[in-house]
Amino acid sequence: MDTKLTDNVFWVGHIDWSVRDFHGYTTSRGSTYNAYLVKAGKTALIDTVKTPYVAQFLENVKAHVALEKVDYLVCNHAEPDHSGGLPETVRACPNATVLCNAKCKDALAHHYDVSGWKIQVVKDAETLALGGKTLQFFDTPMVHWPESMATYLVEDAILFSMDAFGQHYASGFRFDDESDLCEVMQEAKIYYANIVLPFGRPVATTLARLGGLKLSIVAPSHGVIWRSHFTKIVEAYQAWMVSKPTKKVVIVFSSMWNSTRVMAEAVAAGAEELPVEVKLIDAAATSDTNIVAEVMDCAAFAAGSPTLNMGIMPRMAATLTYLRGLKPLGKSCFAFGSYGWAAKGTEEVSQYLQAMQMAPVCEPVTCRFAPDAATLAGCRAAGRALAEVARKA
Ligand code: FEO
Repeated sequence: MDTKLTDNVFWVGHIDWSVRDFHGYTTSRGSTYNAYLVKAGKTALIDTVKTPYVAQFLENVKAHVALEKVDYLVCNHAEPDHSGGLPETVRACPNATVLCNAKCKDALAHHYDVSGWKIQVVKDAETLALGGKTLQFFDTPMVHWPESMATYLVEDAILFSMDAFGQHYASGFRFDDESDLCEVMQEAKIYYANIVLPFGRPVATTLARLGGLKLSIVAPSHGVIWRSHFTKIVEAYQAWMVSKPTKKVVIVFSSMWNSTRVMAEAVAAGAEELPVEVKLIDAAATSDTNIVAEVMDCAAFAAGSPTLNMGIMPRMAATLTYLRGLKPLGKSCFAFGSYGWAAKGTEEVSQYLQAMQMAPVCEPVTCRFAPDAATLAGCRAAGRALAEVARKA
């Protein structure tokens, strides 16, 4: 495996082939926790790995340098998938000073016992001479936590971009030009939708700021390293961060005895009357991770649930709650669903859509038990109205 970024910079992270649930995010292709070693007059480690993998990580480092020779441990981000290995690494590298910004220092102190750690706080844009190489630190707040920071290796024009531009993607290849770019971009999109979506404005600020740097390599904390196709991921981020809609209608439903399913199919049939992409998603058969990635760039969204216990199906409640937290912007919408004796489900779905500031294309459609022809005609008309919006995207 090629782990060499340049003559003096190496990937020393961990490939997590097995992880399928990353705090609720379905990681169908596993992940990596990327850490990097910079060897110059002084030696710096950029980030660590999740706690269970720290022993292997330290072995990776030792393949390049004795642990006593590590001078700096840069902590770009306190989230435990990157800092979890830090306590053990501090113990294993007795001469190392932790470098982080003030917010990160505070966050680390609330995660770990940092008494006895040598911590040096770095300010935004501050530089640190390693002897022949220079590190520069840039605060990137909310990409992905308030204390997030990126580190730039000036002479080699390498940006260690932390979560930005990452993908949960396990692979034996470390670089974009060795990898299946379709898979990588698909995982980058899913990653953006589930991790970065609520932070479009900070991402735009960060992109504008770091875009001024000379960049040869962009090395994120997850997935493959960008050295040949960085433009592709930047162009994608520019669309995602403003929620640029595509000509797509997404219909998500839960069903109990198929009535809401039949209504969903009628919505889809109406949307398919126009030349737009239509995705019909059964929430019971699809992870929220993948649902959110589909919704992120759609122009129009429909959600349907039958009434259950005066509310909606738990599976649909989970999907809409997750989606609401990620704040997708600028969607047109439609709510639908069946009921038995109290028409409450559609009302609750509408409340979720309203909370996301989605614009209804028409009144919700609801029906008692099985949908009749008039109900299905209403659903079909709503589907066509959603497609009319999507066609203009
Ligand atoms: Fe990969 Fe926000 O941590």
